[in-house]
Amino acid sequence: MQLQGKTALVTGANSGLGKAVATALARAGARVLMLCRDAGRGAAARDEVVAATGNERVELLLCDLASQAAIRAGAAEVHRRIDALHLLVNNAGTAFAEHGLTADGVERSLAVNHLGPFLLTNLLLDLLRSGASAGDGARIVNVGTRIDTAMDFHDLNWERRPYRMMGAYGESKLGNIHFTRELARRLEGTGVTVNCVFPGVFLSNLGGTDGAQNRALKLFAKLFGWALQKPQRAAQRVLYLLTADEVAAVSGEYFGDRKPIPAPLQADDPAANAELWRLSAALTGLDGGAG
Ligand SMILES: NC(=O)c1ccc[n+]([C@@H]2O[C@H](COP(=O)([O-])OP(=O)(O)OC[C@H]3O[C@@H](n4cnc5c(N)ncnc54)[C@H](OP(=O)(O)O)[C@@H]3O)[C@@H](O)[C@H]2O)c1
Repeated sequence: MQLQGKTALVTGANSGLGKAVATALARAGARVLMLCRDAGRGAAARDEVVAATGNERVELLLCDLASQAAIRAGAAEVHRRIDALHLLVNNAGTAFAEHGLTADGVERSLAVNHLGPFLLTNLLLDLLRSGASAGDGARIVNVGTRIDTAMDFHDLNWERRPYRMMGAYGESKLGNIHFTRELARRLEGTGVTVNCVFPGVFLSNLGGTDGAQNRALKLFAKLFGWALQKPQRAAQRVLYLLTADEVAAVSGEYFGDRKPIPAPLQADDPAANAELWRLSAALTGLDGGAG
């Protein structure tokens, strides 16, 4: 896909992978909306992207994905700014050391990592359909991870099990694959595709703001971070799915480095994908959703 004249929205765009993707899209000439939760971090990153690329059509969109009210307000703001969206990258993600619920009563990892992109994407689907109607299609990329797990649909809030940070993170990120599969089914024939990508392991601030990174982990990253790949490298996997001609019609897949990779078994079950959609729609007050 040619990016000149296209509009992209990247969530979690002030750091790590999201910033690298936003920078590459801006460099290629797209108008980029950088969704960030913190005004200071967001403005600093937006200025950095503009300085690095010379593209002034880079905008900050403030939105905390942990809040459904904020997501609805953010989506309304996107509708005020643009008439069509061509690329949506659901990249924001985090982990929490302790169990906690959001103001909406949802376990925090599930809220930010799964329900956030679920609700935001559904609220932007009309803009993506408009983007697709221009001829080149529109593409959604959900950034997942590679943890072999299964979601407990009877305890999405981790109230009946002892909370485990990586357990909650892994299940919420599996939600990204379930969501991708069911959304692809609902979007068949619309010109809007959706895929999920495992970006590889790379150096970032993942979980740093929300306290998931303890001192030992921070020290490890400081000492051995040089051995990990940089977010710019991981961004290539996302950019491939956003722009490569050979995947223009591919939808509902889970990719690693330019190739589909196996997903946890539960995400191969269409009934499980539909069930998580149903539960997510109920938890976000979305009736029906796409399709
Ligand atoms: N790093 C890895 O090795 C790795 C491996 C597999 C998958 N991933 C995935 O890659 C994606 C990007 O992570 P990263 O490694 O680049 O980490 P990162 O540097 O911490 O970036 C994550 C971004 O998400 C934002 N974010 C977190 N909570 C948010 C919220 N409530 N509302 C809005 N934005 C929020 C963060 O904002 P703040 O700066 O305000 O916290 C930050 O901009 C995540 O989905 C992660 O699960 C990473």
